[in-house]
Amino acid sequence: MSHSPALPFDLSGIHLQPGQGLARQLYQALRERILDGRLVGGTRLPASRELAQLLGISRNTVTRALDQLYAEGYVAGRVGDGTYVAELVRQRPLPAPTPSNVYGSPALQRLQQHHLTPPPVEAPRAFRIGVPAFDLFPFQTWARLQARFWRKPALARLGYGDPAGDWRLRELIAVYLRNARGLECDPRHIVITCGAQQAISLCAQLLIQPGDRVAVESPGYGAAGHAFAVAGAQVCGVALDNEGLQVEALQGIDGCRLVYLTPSHQYPTGVTLSLPRRLALLEWAKREGGWIVEDDYDGEYRYSGTPLAPLAALDRQQRVIYVGTFGKLAFPALRLGYLVLPPSLAGAFAQRLALDMRHMEIGTQAVMAEFIAAGHFQRHIRRMRQAARARRDTLLREWPQAIPGCAPLPAVEAGLHLCVRVASLAREQELVSTARAAGVEMNGLSGYWLPDSQVPEDARAGLVLGFAAVPEVQIIDAVQRLRQAWKLCL
Ligand SMILES: Cc1ncc(COP(=O)(O)O)c(C=O)c1O
Repeated sequence: MSHSPALPFDLSGIHLQPGQGLARQLYQALRERILDGRLVGGTRLPASRELAQLLGISRNTVTRALDQLYAEGYVAGRVGDGTYVAELVRQRPLPAPTPSNVYGSPALQRLQQHHLTPPPVEAPRAFRIGVPAFDLFPFQTWARLQARFWRKPALARLGYGDPAGDWRLRELIAVYLRNARGLECDPRHIVITCGAQQAISLCAQLLIQPGDRVAVESPGYGAAGHAFAVAGAQVCGVALDNEGLQVEALQGIDGCRLVYLTPSHQYPTGVTLSLPRRLALLEWAKREGGWIVEDDYDGEYRYSGTPLAPLAALDRQQRVIYVGTFGKLAFPALRLGYLVLPPSLAGAFAQRLALDMRHMEIGTQAVMAEFIAAGHFQRHIRRMRQAARARRDTLLREWPQAIPGCAPLPAVEAGLHLCVRVASLAREQELVSTARAAGVEMNGLSGYWLPDSQVPEDARAGLVLGFAAVPEVQIIDAVQRLRQAWKLCL
């Protein structure tokens, strides 16, 4: 056997941390260098005594690392001649992904154009939108119910469950919807989802063919539009007025297959869809064979007047898909929502969900079922409604009277946020950026319109303020900071 020349052996970059398995660290460092080619095949490793000295560790440790490399074939011993790096077919590092090769297929390209901006991860501040008063959630009760469930779960519930979700929870949701929302439904047609977003996304996956047209409110809930666009839909914005979605505009959208909307409390303008418009929309669905996706994301928050029955409660043709969420009553990270489906669709939705994820995790479903059955849910809804109303009142009371270029706040009868018009886009951006600089969260209405909206730029301006996320003192403090930032009389 010929002696290979002793090749240079570079130990730079090997920093072993005492007390954390020195042999394992050395093994990993050497293996990494062999795999990425820094140690080429045929390189002779220093003798174990020498290596131990260079690294300041015991010879025993080095021997253990080398034994492992030897056992796995990374190094080979030559009798009487030391240890050599094995000749391996090296894996070349992949070229850095470029946008063109990552987003090669049409589906991936659509995803590149329609993704969600990650929301802020810090604790809520005034005036965050989309979150309820989750500081009031009864965590102790929830923890107790969780502990009770997991202490001795029925074994039958620990295998794969029904893809449509936990039966007891579906029964309780059906009872709740009947009593609270006037919606008669059969638990067999309810599918439990990971929040409203998954429910909307399932509609997009199952009811849309690439190229189909889908109508959404503009301004509206962007995440829903994205879900339909990623499924290949051509998303068309429909304007609103003080009765909500202008249903007659659907005639102008040839081949429209589906309408997504938030009729109880339009997101983000807060308009309620009038009864004549509801009936006109149902008529459209019947005539065109179209689907209506009704997102009732914050329907529980009504402060005055009687809520209108959901579209699903008026639907005689089985064209409405009702989307509900626990995210606005408990907290968004719970990721629990549901669909109430026409009987003809319930099986398909459950099957699709089974392929995606089998079903939602059992613990949260079972605990929510117990939370409802024991009466905590109803109590919590009352508490949340009261808190949201008090926080709304504080905002309405504290908000400055005359902000140049900003309309007075509207009356707010429902929901967790309000929307106020601003005279121009430039003024909106000025108000938003100075508010943010003062540590107050603020969203411009202009960000909620579809890009192809025909509405003039300045008519799209406004502010969207979530009022439920934080207690009254924080609302008062935020308004105070706004007065200073916006240079208003204090
Ligand atoms: C209109 C609307 N629909 C649905 C959702 C999402 O609900 P979930 O958290 O249950 O996915 C939101 C969240 O803010 C929303 O504003």
